[in-house]
Amino acid sequence: MKPSVPIADVLIVGSGAAGLMFAAHISKYHQVHVITKDTATESNTRYAQGGIAAVLSIDDSYAKHIDDTLRAGDGLSDPEAVNILVKEAPARIFDLMCMGVDFDRLTDNALQFTREGGHSGRRVIHVGDMTGQAIESALWNSVIKENICVSDHRMVTRLLVRDNICYGVESLDKSGKVCRSYAKSVFLATGGAGQMFAKTTNPEIATGDGFVMAAESGADMMHLEFIQFHPTALAMEGAPCFLISEATRGEGGLLLTIDLHRFMHEYHAMAELAPRDIVSRAIVAEMEKTSAPHVFLDLTGQGREYVEKRFPTITQTVMQYGLHPGENRLPVAPAAHYMCGGVKTDIDGRTSIQGLYAGGEVACTGVHGANRLASNSLLESVVFAYRAAVNADRRIRYLPESWYDGINPFIDEAPPEWNSGSPEDGLIADLTNRLQVTNWKHCGIIRSDRGLQQGLNEIERIEGEFRTAGGHRSGKGKALALANLIKLSKRVYESAAGRRINAGAHYNVNCANSQSERDFKNDREDNRGT
Ligand code: FAD
Ligand code: SIN
Repeated sequence: MKPSVPIADVLIVGSGAAGLMFAAHISKYHQVHVITKDTATESNTRYAQGGIAAVLSIDDSYAKHIDDTLRAGDGLSDPEAVNILVKEAPARIFDLMCMGVDFDRLTDNALQFTREGGHSGRRVIHVGDMTGQAIESALWNSVIKENICVSDHRMVTRLLVRDNICYGVESLDKSGKVCRSYAKSVFLATGGAGQMFAKTTNPEIATGDGFVMAAESGADMMHLEFIQFHPTALAMEGAPCFLISEATRGEGGLLLTIDLHRFMHEYHAMAELAPRDIVSRAIVAEMEKTSAPHVFLDLTGQGREYVEKRFPTITQTVMQYGLHPGENRLPVAPAAHYMCGGVKTDIDGRTSIQGLYAGGEVACTGVHGANRLASNSLLESVVFAYRAAVNADRRIRYLPESWYDGINPFIDEAPPEWNSGSPEDGLIADLTNRLQVTNWKHCGIIRSDRGLQQGLNEIERIEGEFRTAGGHRSGKGKALALANLIKLSKRVYESAAGRRINAGAHYNVNCANSQSERDFKNDREDNRGT
């Protein structure tokens, strides 16, 4: 019998590109409840700069985009998922345009394409250097308002799963009140986990909550060790780890050591536009050689006026720190950027738990393999969220009556008791900082067996101190975030320790290299010799 509690057709956790694309489609037919832990627009999506990749020019082809994606993924991408990503991209871009995303154009009839790392040609469309914000607001405006209810500043803490079926979520509001929300389908779109690291381009919301909730509910997880480090974040004392888009290199920006030596052609034939994992490792190698905390990104050849017009947000941000990107070389270094792995899904966004879909950065559709191709993330978010919405629509329509019985045990279950006092904020901040520094040092761009073990030992100490202080029972937002960061870190170390052949973003000095890594080394020798 249908229980007498509110049951939404769909519950969406997270309001970035994936959550909102799903909402925009499914709200045409169903009642939707969106729960998001900060303001409705705060997300990684909002900060996306470079753009979104798609084959939209006669000079390009599906085969090239597929090939570039598979190469960047270093042999570990799922070809079927990549095929879907690339071939459904134009339709989803068209949807975004109809929703009002005004991509930059050369003329009324011609889009402006930029190039980014790993792409064999110009394929990335953009809205200045704030593509994510334009997409986020267009998606919001397209959601059918009368069919949607949004709970913001509400943190989802648990998926309500029994017998491998998801019935909804448990969440905490700002006042610490526990709520249970039921739905016929749940779409998990909680984004990434950059906050695991001391240096990251990600905002504070990126604490990996969705990975942990799904894993704890028994969902299959995949490729957690492949964490992408973006090569160029601003590296200045006192300045935030602000992303300097790869598109700057697509428009001619050069990487130089602190003694102004151009080095990327020594590492890869694509030089500054090699895949991201290769550029990040090369930068680390050059920083070590020169004992410098950064390299330079040089855009001065492009001229002040061009840089200001093409990259207004980057210009305004770095000007706050006394530099002009058209006139000064920018100090840059790698920073944690993107989770390539996550909750395993099929090509329709279905996880291994019935009724639970996942999309966007928290999901592992198989597209990115060991390393994501630049500007394929926004694309993956919209392509696979749309597919998941189509699938969820069918599930909701044909849900059997017996499904409702599964809700009753959750209605009867006493809510958990969260402690609102301890631990002290200072202790939470200290432990979070220690965890981030540990992960940066031991599970970062260059890993080793010893480092992974040392890192794991330190995480266990941090976890012990956190528990002793009552952190695991704390309902404070920052304590909940730290609990998730600790749990996710342990899973990432476990996956990293288990990966014995280096591929893409995972590089362990004690492991053998994949074929592509060996090719890269050979290329490097060849390029040095020429
Ligand atoms: P997000 O946009 O991160 O949204 C996650 C949502 O989940 C947020 O609303 C968050 O508040 C919510 N949430 C999280 N945990 C909880 C919880 N426990 N309870 C409730 N709500 C929760 N990719 C590209 O393709 N092109 C680019 O140019 C590009 N530039 C980037 C620049 C920067 C600085 C960054 C950080 C990333 C960039 N990326 C880019 C990557 C891309 O932006 C993200 O991977 C993508 O936007 C992820 O979308 P999402 O919907 O999965 O997650
Ligand atoms: C960037 O603009 O460099 C980020 C692009 C991406 O993450 O795909």
